[in-house]
Amino acid sequence: MRVVRTIGSLRQEIKKIKSREKTIGFVPTMGALHEGHLSLIRKARRENDVVMVSVFVNPKQFGPKEDFQAYPRPEKKDILLAKDEKVDIIFHPSEKEMYPTGFLTSISVEGITGILCGASRPGHFRGVTTVVGKLLNLIEPDILYLGQKDAQQAIVIKRMVADLNLPVTVKICPTIRDDDGLALSSRNQYLTPDQQQEAPILFRALKIGKKNILNGERNAAKIVDCIRKTITKHSKGKVDYIVCVNADTLAPVEWIKGRIMLALAVKFGQTRLIDNIVVRA
Ligand code: PAF
Repeated sequence: MRVVRTIGSLRQEIKKIKSREKTIGFVPTMGALHEGHLSLIRKARRENDVVMVSVFVNPKQFGPKEDFQAYPRPEKKDILLAKDEKVDIIFHPSEKEMYPTGFLTSISVEGITGILCGASRPGHFRGVTTVVGKLLNLIEPDILYLGQKDAQQAIVIKRMVADLNLPVTVKICPTIRDDDGLALSSRNQYLTPDQQQEAPILFRALKIGKKNILNGERNAAKIVDCIRKTITKHSKGKVDYIVCVNADTLAPVEWIKGRIMLALAVKFGQTRLIDNIVVRA
């Protein structure tokens, strides 16, 4: 496995791979790799000749009061984990390499980025699409692997790929959870022991919502209310949003029909957790 740190060396590697007509599977990450990332890497390994992983804590997707400085950066551990999964190349650029002095360009998807996480984190998705657009342009992968846990991110990136006719297939892979149901996230390590006990209520509440839908409830407001009550009764979590939306477009749903997503963001102290569940009614 090679660790590539500059755009120049990355371009050379990509040129070699392309000249041999090998397929590239790409997993973009901000490091602090966990089983969620590893499941994407394993799928990429099964489906491609070459697996590339980027590790870059992207400053452009953090708000001024967010955790950019505190975000975990266990570089050595990440490299070992990637090696174990037979990753071919890790792209691990510096901030200066990605955004040299004078950098002025951004990619912005409209509409669907101003709601849900985008409403609480202004500019977040512009940061995500700018860095992912740049990485796709450099790496030219055949398949891009993203996790369903970050459902809005996945939908926004799919929109960008479609709108800009980027020649890549986007695959959204299932959320990986702890035994207690908590969706894996690099931010889970910020939780205190008490918060760790409470946070699995998020998935339990989503599952109750799903069960109620499968039992025939079609009123989205009632489902959302039930999820909210379950969370506030069993934890000190502060709800940012709980929504019932179209699973593909994020359009709000009042009367549940077809493929919908129950999605939420809840803060435990300073730690904001997100999760979602897709239901076919
Ligand atoms: O999901 C993440 O870890 C990041 O948002 C991503 C896609 C790597 C872009 O920085």
